[in-house]
Amino acid sequence: TTQVKKICCLGAGYVGGPTCAVIAHKCPHIQVTIVDLNETRINAWNSDNLPIYEPGLDKIVFDRRGKNLFFTTEVDKAINEADLIFVSVNTPTKKAGMGAGYAADLAYIESATRQIAEVARSSKIVVEKSTVPCRTAESMRTILEANSHDDIRFDILSNPEFLAEGTAINDLLYPDRVLIGGLQTPEGFKAQQALAEIYEQWVPKDKIITTNLWSSELSKLAANALLAQRISSINALSAICEATGADIDEVAYACGRDSRIGPRFLKASVGFGGSCFQKDILNLVYLSEQLNLPEVAAYWKQVVDLNEYQKKRFVSRIIKTLFNTITNKRIAVLGFAFKKDTGDTRESAAITLCKDFIQENARVYIYDPKVSEQQIFYDLSGPEVTYDIKDLKKRVTIVQSAYEASANADAIVVATEWDEFKELDFERIYKSMNKPAFIFDGRLILDAEKLKSIGFRVHTIGRANF
Ligand code: NAI
Repeated sequence: TTQVKKICCLGAGYVGGPTCAVIAHKCPHIQVTIVDLNETRINAWNSDNLPIYEPGLDKIVFDRRGKNLFFTTEVDKAINEADLIFVSVNTPTKKAGMGAGYAADLAYIESATRQIAEVARSSKIVVEKSTVPCRTAESMRTILEANSHDDIRFDILSNPEFLAEGTAINDLLYPDRVLIGGLQTPEGFKAQQALAEIYEQWVPKDKIITTNLWSSELSKLAANALLAQRISSINALSAICEATGADIDEVAYACGRDSRIGPRFLKASVGFGGSCFQKDILNLVYLSEQLNLPEVAAYWKQVVDLNEYQKKRFVSRIIKTLFNTITNKRIAVLGFAFKKDTGDTRESAAITLCKDFIQENARVYIYDPKVSEQQIFYDLSGPEVTYDIKDLKKRVTIVQSAYEASANADAIVVATEWDEFKELDFERIYKSMNKPAFIFDGRLILDAEKLKSIGFRVHTIGRANF
């Protein structure tokens, strides 16, 4: 088989950066070059302040950088030198045109593919790492073959990434499985083997799964759809709990003890976020519609609709509880990232909550340990907002601690499950707040009984208040 000595990764994002840093860490004999068109991002990767926060990432990057791990904007050179190329570019939901709001925008994949074809002067294994609709590899192959220079071979593999932000390094070091899809031809098997040999440096062989290309592509969409479906299912049940007096944590525990169901990913919340779940499900919905399977499309679409409903339901519970108005009330929002241990805010539930609070003319004080002020204002100024952006800085204040956010607040809203929020001095917070002091726990992380004994009025998702 081909022994891979040099790897190039197109796209230095949340996936390309950590995955290739771990490969460099585990395979000192392989030279790994990560490239991006975005120079600011590459400069940050080459600095002391990496562009993404992920526990454990700094250590690995600082250790390998300049040895067998390189970050550069010299895309052509890196492509040319590599035996194997990961394509880890972004595949956002299309904003306009056919399939707008559902289909994945494959423009970045296509232009990356064309660039590989144009500059490659030797044969390459091209690995689709980005999440793409089923059969994208076929399009990539056609583009590569139609544009390649003579005597060059391209073998295409699908190797979707299953890491979760916040635990990316651990997920990469100890993956549940690695999936490698390839064409079922002698050359396809050979390429699969070459990539498998890289992972075998640290992943047990029985965790490396090989399938055909289309199964591999579809498995990534399917896995995310199944994961998100569990959250929407438990969130749908949380609405029933709030209306009946059942407790969603107890229900989730009782259900999760069934070994066929299992305990993980059954935590109720204000709703899932992140760049992938919604995008990938909408992608699956679009694919189903294209395949003339409207019932299948409607089934998966409901997972996303329920998630929107959950966010709206939480906001309306907050407003109702605060005597039906939050105009000029001070609301402390704890957490802005879409989950703990990441600075990523893409599709974060906190964005929806804050936009609604601003719309209702509340004064919003936001604290997040990892998200920058600039990012928060960017997220709250999207083209779709109905409030006047000029007023944003009057209505929204970014602060440096949960205590600062809570002082003189009418209500605290927990939007992200950061561990530090569990350890806060709530006696101190209670004293500093307007009374009655309300807490809305959107992540089910606080000890409601203890808070009540301090004097708080506590509202938790999936628990009734009667
Ligand atoms: P990202 O937006 O953080 O990174 C993508 C990078 O690709 C950007 O920095 C962009 O400038 C660069 N890029 C675009 N076109 C390029 C080109 N032609 N040449 C070089 N660089 C180029 O996106 P992220 O989050 O890393 O996601 C990448 C893919 O991985 C997506 O398809 C996503 O669905 C998938 N994925 C993401 C996961 C996550 O947790 N973020 C997990 C698993 C899969």
